[in-house]
Amino acid sequence: MSLLQVEGLGKSYDSETKVLKDISFEVGSGEFVSIIGPSGAGKSTLLRCINRMVEINEGKVMFDGQDVGELKKRELRKLRTNIGMVFQHYNLVPRLTVIENVLHGRFGYKTTMQGILGRFTEEEKEHAFFLLKKLGIEEHAYKRCDQLSGGQQQRAGICRALIQEPKLVLCDEPIASLDPNSSKIIMDHLKSITTELGITCLVNLHQVEVAQDYSDRVVGLRKGEIVFDGPTRMLHGDQINNIYGSEVRELITV
Ligand SMILES: Nc1ncnc2c1ncn2[C@@H]1O[C@H](COP(=O)(O)OP(=O)(O)OP(=O)(O)O)[C@@H](O)[C@H]1O
Ligand SMILES: [Mg+2]
Repeated sequence: MSLLQVEGLGKSYDSETKVLKDISFEVGSGEFVSIIGPSGAGKSTLLRCINRMVEINEGKVMFDGQDVGELKKRELRKLRTNIGMVFQHYNLVPRLTVIENVLHGRFGYKTTMQGILGRFTEEEKEHAFFLLKKLGIEEHAYKRCDQLSGGQQQRAGICRALIQEPKLVLCDEPIASLDPNSSKIIMDHLKSITTELGITCLVNLHQVEVAQDYSDRVVGLRKGEIVFDGPTRMLHGDQINNIYGSEVRELITV
């Protein structure tokens, strides 16, 4: 069975425009799937619907056999420990150290008081160092995050997502602020998360070539609708033009 099933999902932020229309797709366990599409197509909104950062208006999202839209507060908290997030701007706490930021990923497992006191077990600390080592930033563990390069900060962001021991990692434009070298390092790490750790990755990307290089499957969104969903090898010029094409023409005629 698929880890994630999205069925007939519809989303509006206001009464006038539907940002997502009848979105249906599935992601299997251990798959690396990219979502591509022009700016404003609804990629970020789709990711936010999956972990219910925004409420769903129509249809449903099933994650690991649970109907995400039906979850109560406590169950939703549990869901979010199972879904890690990686963001374009890293979303780290700049004045805290790398290791503190990574351990933040364990908050979902703590009582409020444990969280306030910042109590972490030896095992959690060892796990954090293991991940920092894996991502190649162990030597920066005690530096403040704002002293790191963008690529290093993103690696800390990935460690924070992984320490949650998630089944799924959602990445919203993880390389949009990075240079090509740092982007490659990040994408290689994300790919190894799926191949080595078996964690499913769903990644929003602006770079079609990157999506082609790394994904098992690609979902193409245009104006809130899926216009392509298939294995990466099926994504050719025609499909890419269909996903982006008319947007480009519209821009040219303005
Ligand atoms: N919080 C919000 N309130 C109102 N409208 C929103 C909100 N977030 C997004 N939108 C609108 O929803 C549409 C889809 O936005 P979304 O951010 O999901 O697109 P995107 O594909 O991620 O774009 P980009 O590639 O620029 O990140 C846009 O028209 C946007 O203006
Ligand atoms: Mg976006």
